[in-house]
Amino acid sequence: MAKYIVQPYKGKLNSRVKISGCKNAALPIMCAAALSTETSTITEVPDLIDINIMKDILVHLGANIQYDKQTSTMTVAYSGNGSFEAPYDMVDKLRASVLSMGVLLATKGMAKVASPGGCPIGARPIDLHLKGFAAMGAEIQQGHGYVMAMASKGLHGANIYLDFPSVGATENIMLAAVTARGETIIDNAANEPEIVDLATFLSSMGADISGAGTDKIRIQGVKKLHAAEHAIMPDRIETGSFMTLAAAIGGRLEIVNAIPEHVKPISAKLREMGCQVVEEDGCLVVEVEDTSKLKAVDIKTLPHPGFPTDMQAPFTALLCRSHGTGIITETVFENRFLHVQELKRMGANIKIDGRTAYIEGGTPLTGTKVKAMDLRAGMAVILAALFAEGTTEVDDIYHVERGYEDLPGKLRSLGIEIARID
Ligand code: EPZ
Repeated sequence: MAKYIVQPYKGKLNSRVKISGCKNAALPIMCAAALSTETSTITEVPDLIDINIMKDILVHLGANIQYDKQTSTMTVAYSGNGSFEAPYDMVDKLRASVLSMGVLLATKGMAKVASPGGCPIGARPIDLHLKGFAAMGAEIQQGHGYVMAMASKGLHGANIYLDFPSVGATENIMLAAVTARGETIIDNAANEPEIVDLATFLSSMGADISGAGTDKIRIQGVKKLHAAEHAIMPDRIETGSFMTLAAAIGGRLEIVNAIPEHVKPISAKLREMGCQVVEEDGCLVVEVEDTSKLKAVDIKTLPHPGFPTDMQAPFTALLCRSHGTGIITETVFENRFLHVQELKRMGANIKIDGRTAYIEGGTPLTGTKVKAMDLRAGMAVILAALFAEGTTEVDDIYHVERGYEDLPGKLRSLGIEIARID
């Protein structure tokens, strides 16, 4: 297993970093492009493990995809044939592969997708996705580790209420609804920026969508979608991760290609801790004079526009540095504190009670061997390593490389000593 060797950061940060395209926007947009037999061009596609797995899945399902990693440009078109089955060995590697159900129902009228396994952060059921497809006329069968959805007469519009504003369910229903007969309304829809990016791309393909970014999305089905061009929006979680890094090690970091609007909850919490967060000629700048003055804060993760659950782990690491007790409540996933055990191995003083973690800041951390338990937990231990005493070895870093493009390269450009050992 590849690992990172991370040294504590001793310098005074005064640098800049460029944010890559957003993984969680690129994945559904790749699926959307596979709804048309015309070739769409997508730029700012980050070179990540998850993106390459989604490419393999969509090719297996009949898409023609060219991906130039040098220019971060991908072309996608549906070939008109391919399998209607997403097998377990593919689905098991990428939970977002469940989005292929919407594409398969829209293009083939049938989908056979392996039931996605749970993952470290929780059971992550897909009941809301299936509720949407059933409302649109699909017949759902489950068994032998697969979910079958059949819509031999095609899909029709429906009025769908989501019990929870699920990002994936909202996206999957949008993918199925854009060419369904009639109108679909998604009530209590997720309103994350990734949903807006997907809707913008689908609209540029000729879809008739309104309300993306609110909790009510209205879609009028159209006969056909045509090719479109789209640049993936910058990754707001990568942005937040680098903002948190700047706060953890102090100094000044200019973050290029960030959208301040997308990271308002993170900016607000960093300001509460005593950081300076400003916009300067198109850049987001985070500046911390003295990390020893960082104040602890309380955080509750919520669906957008609340504090993002994907930033919970990196912030838990940051609160290990601040003074006082930080309290973090995770309301979105049921088991998203896997990083806490690893931080405690470094000496962190954290107690968990149900969905709440109590972080006693100010306890010095020491470098040791730790694991990246999931994508964002990996970022948490890397951040902690930057202000620990001594070297830290982070194992299982494929989790991290699923979601952060060229992380060692970007960290080295800030003067951080990190080596990748295969
Ligand atoms: C997306 O996951 C993101 N992944 C996650 O990012 C992110 O943490 C999450 O949204 C929340 O913002 C991608 O976009 C690929 P959900 P998703 O459906 O769609 C429950 C990362 O770090 N739920 O909004 O799976 C579910 O169990 C990843 O990049 C149901 O109960 O999230 C969870 O508790 C991790 N039934 C909650 O909703 C369903 O049918 C939120 O899940 C669907 C979801």
